[in-house]
Amino acid sequence: MAAPILKWAGGKRQLLSEITGRFPAEFERYHEPFVGGGAVYFHLEPENGSINDLNDRLVTLYEVIRDRDPEALIAENRTHEHSEEYYYDARDEFNELHELDEKTADERLREASLFVYLNRTCFNGLYRENSSGEFNVPVGRYANPDWVQADRVRALHDALQDTTIHNEDFEYVRGVATEGDLVYFDPPYEPVSTTADFTDYHAEGFDRDDQRRLRDLAVDLDEMGVSVVLSNSPPVAELYEGVDQFTVHVVEATRAINSDADNRGEVAEVLITNVRPERQRRTTLSTFE
Ligand SMILES: C[S@@+](CC[C@H](N)C(=O)[O-])C[C@H]1O[C@@H](n2cnc3c(N)ncnc32)[C@H](O)[C@@H]1O
Repeated sequence: MAAPILKWAGGKRQLLSEITGRFPAEFERYHEPFVGGGAVYFHLEPENGSINDLNDRLVTLYEVIRDRDPEALIAENRTHEHSEEYYYDARDEFNELHELDEKTADERLREASLFVYLNRTCFNGLYRENSSGEFNVPVGRYANPDWVQADRVRALHDALQDTTIHNEDFEYVRGVATEGDLVYFDPPYEPVSTTADFTDYHAEGFDRDDQRRLRDLAVDLDEMGVSVVLSNSPPVAELYEGVDQFTVHVVEATRAINSDADNRGEVAEVLITNVRPERQRRTTLSTFE
């Protein structure tokens, strides 16, 4: 059981048992098209399958962790310093590396390492880009941040060995999932209030039409014999009304990352699935409905 290396908005650590309790007891391969920090994927450590995210810097990090000697990334991580001046230089370097069309293996290693460092030292562990695609989160205040993450780099290296990593729209999974597989979707949420805009992971955003596209994909996967579990915010549940194969469960979630401190706390979350109760693992569920 591994743990995420990044702090990531919408991270699912508090909901792991509710989510995985609805997974089927048995499945072939596991796919996670909105992997983000990967709390569910790394908890599960599936033997084989795929992960995906539209964020190319995140994908570079996971590819470097999978493909390079973990000790090389750990050594690079140890080169960083804890100062505000260093943080802003590192942020500039991270954005300059992102602009390069072609990168050497060492430039990719450096970009991955800078990502871990910035994520661990930036304000609230946020990921935000400006309209030019530059990472623009200011420095945070931490007494003793751990940006080396040696144990996690080693654990994630092992966990990722038989995983295919994609950097495209979530619909890629239509081409890779086959009968008996499991797909867990954790898309960017629709804002639950004007102060809780969690759609800001990527300059392009995620709107209602994307949520409809996702629903249509979920229905197609169901027809292909694929198990589907989907997390989302309550307003999205209405898109699944009348889709008989899917049931909607409401659970409470504590959001760890929120730019408005007063808005932290319990927020209802919906889990939508075509896995029928008798096929679910359930052993980890806190409530039985
Ligand atoms: C709610 S987060 C996933 C959080 C993850 N479950 C975790 O535990 O950290 C949603 C992710 O979807 C990605 N994303 C946004 N639009 C996408 C799209 N069209 N296709 C694939 N990924 C997308 C974002 O970059 C973000 O990392």
